[in-house]
This record gives sequence, C-alpha cells and structure tokens, in this order.
Amino acid sequence: MRELTQPQLLALFALASDLQSGRCRAVRALEDVVVLTAFFEPSTRTRLSFESAAHRLGAAVLSVPDGRVSSVRKGESLADTGVMLNSYADIVVLRHPSDTALDEIRNTRLTVPLINGGNGCEEHPTQAMADWYALLKRCAHLHDADAPPEQRISLGVVGTPRRMRALRSFLLMGALHFPHILRDVTVVSEDPRPLDAELDNAFRDALLPVRCTSDLRRHVGSFDVVYQNSLTLVGTEYEVFDAAFRIDGDTPLKPHALVMHPLARLGELGADLDDTPHNLYFSQADGAVFIRQALLLAVAGRLDRVRWHEPEELG
Ligand code: CP
Repeated sequence: MRELTQPQLLALFALASDLQSGRCRAVRALEDVVVLTAFFEPSTRTRLSFESAAHRLGAAVLSVPDGRVSSVRKGESLADTGVMLNSYADIVVLRHPSDTALDEIRNTRLTVPLINGGNGCEEHPTQAMADWYALLKRCAHLHDADAPPEQRISLGVVGTPRRMRALRSFLLMGALHFPHILRDVTVVSEDPRPLDAELDNAFRDALLPVRCTSDLRRHVGSFDVVYQNSLTLVGTEYEVFDAAFRIDGDTPLKPHALVMHPLARLGELGADLDDTPHNLYFSQADGAVFIRQALLLAVAGRLDRVRWHEPEELG
C-alpha cells in the first residue's frame, strides 16, 4: 500500500479504464515476457485474473496453482524457491498464507519484480486496487476537488480488518490515498479491537473519524458504501462471521447504497442482491483483469507499447 502514490494509482486506474472500454489495446505488449503465478493458497479470482491479464498482453504464463505441486512441499525454503524463480520468470505474482512470506522471499536473491497476490492476514494490494477502481468508477463525481463534503462517502465495513487482508488493504488504500472521498468509517465486527496500529495511525493521519461497533442493524442504514468481508482464513481453516452480520435483500440499506465484497462469499452475502443496483462486487471482479493488465504493463516497463485508437476508429 505504501509503494504506490495516489497519482500512480489514478494513472493505473485510467489505463485500466481505457483497456476496459476498448479505447486502447496492448495485445502484444508483453510477448517476450514470462509471468509466473506462484500460489501457495487457493484462489480463483486473483490467479486467474492475473493469468488472463498476462495472456491478453501476449505474455507467456507459468503457474504454480497449488503449493503442494512445488518442491516447497518437500521442505524447500521460500528463499531457495525465490532464487530459482529468477531464472524462470520476468515477473512473479505470489500468494502465500504466511504474513511474512513476502519479506522472506524479497530479502533473498530474487531480483525479478514481485507482486503480492495476498499474504496471510497482511495485505492484498491488487484486490484493493480493483476495489477502489470499481468504487471510483461508480462514484466519478467524488474525483472533483470541489465536490461538497456532504457528498463524501459514509463507509461501513463488516469484518475484522486486522485479520482480513482484503479489508485491511482496502481501508489502508482509502486512508493513505483517497481520504478526501470519505466522510467517516464504521467497522462492524464482533472483535472489540478490530483494527491494528498501522490502520489506527493511517486513519488518524488522514483525520478520518472511525467508529467500531458490533451492531450492524443499527448503523447499516447510514452507509453509502458497505464492504462485506466476513470470510477469513484462520490457520488452515476458513472462519465465517456470525449470521447477524449477513447482508441480503432484507437488510435495510440506503436506497443507493453500494455493497462491495472481494469474493469468494458464503452465507454472509445474499445472492438476492446480485441483480440489484446495490451490487458492486461483480464490478470489482470484472475490473480486476484490467487493473492487473495495467499493473503488469507498468511493472514490465511496457507502457510505451499501449496503442490508443484514433477517435474516428472508435466511432
Ligand atoms: N478476492 C480474492 O482474492 O479471491 P480469490 O481468493 O479467489 O483469489
């Protein structure tokens, strides 16, 4: 979250938007690049959208879809694995259940660019990019520096950010890079201390008021955006939130409230919201492939290979 600036993020979002709308193309931009996805934890969206993004840019893709099929299963260290990856790939996307995996592999002789595809409870930065891309696209008026403060978003998040990397990264990105879009933040959690010191400090530095509560029903009607994320990996098991935190068609949402979720979902998010204007979660997943294309182009240093269509070609 701290390696990118707000202008860099907005430039990536703009490129993703142009790729998504067809205003530009980059079909061969990575044709001599090998992208390796090394996933030591299950994934549908992150791995497949990175691989789809790489294929759409003409890259070759190598995949470790499951840590059990690599020699880490025999006990090989992440450090040694990192050294090998230098020879096999030009960009590595890593997902790992350990909070410290990124640091372990980064502190070795891995020299190719490393993208975090989610590490333990720590961070899921490309998910946060997809989330903020979807939200800012839907709330474009909030980019306007002259937008009155009362138009800012009252944000509710359901889950325990200090233990949920998608939620944690979404909040960190908001506090660090988009605080001017937010009016206040409410964290709904059964954990009495759902934030950690880094989040606390980020909110304080951003002068954002934060309230923690366990009463979703009482507050949900005040949220302009509610980010639901009550599924988390605890050790080797997935833990789901209390049924009291379920959001569905019976939840008294504001009429124009947007519901976000990184997916996968279980019972905490009702499918009866899927065909309603509240649903932003499918847009988060749809946009992720374009965000990841923009990121791969930038990381590979191939932004000069993007070709914009002339206005007349677009009709
Ligand atoms: N949102 C997300 O990270 O989904 P996956 O675990 O399926 O990659």
